[in-house]
Amino acid sequence: MDSATFRKLGHQLIDWVADYRERLERLPVMSPVKPGEIRKLFAKEPPASGNGLADALLRLDESIVRGVTHWNHPSFFAYFPSNTSYASILADLVAAGLGAQGMSWQTSPAATEVEEVVMDWLRQMVGLPDGWTGVVHDTASTATLCALLCAREKSSGFSQNTSGLQGLGAPLVVYASQEAHSSIEKAALLAGFGKRNLRLIETDESHALRVDRLSQAIAEDEAAGRIPCALVATVGSTGTTSIDPVRAMLQVAHAHRMWLHVDAALAGTAMVLPECRRLWDGVVNADSLVFNPHKWMGVGVDYSAYYVRDPQHLVRVMSTNPSYLLTAQDGAVTNYRDWQIPLGRRFRAIKLWFYLLDAGVEGLQARIRRDLANAQWLRAQVDQAEGWQRMAPVPLQTVCLRHVPEALGGDEAALARHNLAIARRVNESGAAYLTPSLLKGRQMIRVSIGAEATEQRHVEAVWSALQDAARAETSGA
Ligand SMILES: Cc1ncc(COP(=O)(O)O)c(C=O)c1O
Repeated sequence: MDSATFRKLGHQLIDWVADYRERLERLPVMSPVKPGEIRKLFAKEPPASGNGLADALLRLDESIVRGVTHWNHPSFFAYFPSNTSYASILADLVAAGLGAQGMSWQTSPAATEVEEVVMDWLRQMVGLPDGWTGVVHDTASTATLCALLCAREKSSGFSQNTSGLQGLGAPLVVYASQEAHSSIEKAALLAGFGKRNLRLIETDESHALRVDRLSQAIAEDEAAGRIPCALVATVGSTGTTSIDPVRAMLQVAHAHRMWLHVDAALAGTAMVLPECRRLWDGVVNADSLVFNPHKWMGVGVDYSAYYVRDPQHLVRVMSTNPSYLLTAQDGAVTNYRDWQIPLGRRFRAIKLWFYLLDAGVEGLQARIRRDLANAQWLRAQVDQAEGWQRMAPVPLQTVCLRHVPEALGGDEAALARHNLAIARRVNESGAAYLTPSLLKGRQMIRVSIGAEATEQRHVEAVWSALQDAARAETSGA
């Protein structure tokens, strides 16, 4: 492709994206396609000769858009918000245009230094003190894996340089709550701790980790000769946005010389509001922390912010090349390849830079406050509505609810079928998209508010859709 064609197609594509965003609200939120439907639209063999992109552009609507679930739709209430702002889209274009590889400072100094700047801006925005240092990872799952690797190496006296975990006399143990995200278990398994050495601790009625049960589990492990190694606090669990007691967990972690990692994948964004920071009280003394600007903030996936208090330790664990002998402070520059698992890295920082230039801290704060208020509005409706039950506190933007018609009272299996049918009815209507999920064995429906385009009227509409679906299911319509 020559630059004249690129320029022409590029202009058309920007128009296409803007048109798509403008008509988003009229599209069904959840993709209605059946498995294999999209694949069938594509040739089995790769194109033998290149024909340019004109055909691809024409086919975007018929071959792609129907097969996309629209995460930026104002009635997207499933999983968690994953906002890709216009500014972030443009930044991705710039990063791709530059095609820079930022694995070392020298391979693209701007990629490294812009990352240092914006990660420090972000640190200030969420109220972390000086001394915390951030690095961009692809996802929270990767960041948590790094945290557990760092914990493992701290507890084992850098066993990776000798026989690894295989050479240790006693097993190292990881602790998190039963409501912790599956990425914690995945990281513990991948880091070699083994399922037998992962404790998922019981939670209280607000679905937060019970510190008494944690202390009990640690005591049992120590009595059996096992070594407590890492503790993961979840601030904003995936199911209900429950908040683990970080400060109390820190005391336990320090008493047992454990690493404390905080998973605030969704909730970290709320910390741009000073009034929310009580939710992670004590966090400043944790060892590591992850949150995803690619969720509620507005920086398109993927962009995960991993903060540590001791970057030297991270570098020592992650670097296996000649720069191994350098400390993060010694070097005049940062080589981010030594702060992460892969070698190569994209110029992701430009997305946060563009996003913040466009929205500003105050713009972001106003939107997060709007979402919190919308969630409280829905909470109040559910609390007042007969036949509806709220399943969890609402500290952030997710409301967990279920319909409990009198006729089904107490029959959990029937209630599960009923609420799954309500969620399916709403989702298949295309009007909104929500996630049914289980909470301590009980079926519920999660309404996760926070798409950039979601106004109160969309929350009112999903509440009406839920009530209509419940009526239709109850009457057998
Ligand atoms: C609390 C929590 N932690 C971790 C994750 C995983 O995030 P990622 O997809 O960035 O790995 C999620 C995603 O839903 C989450 O809600």
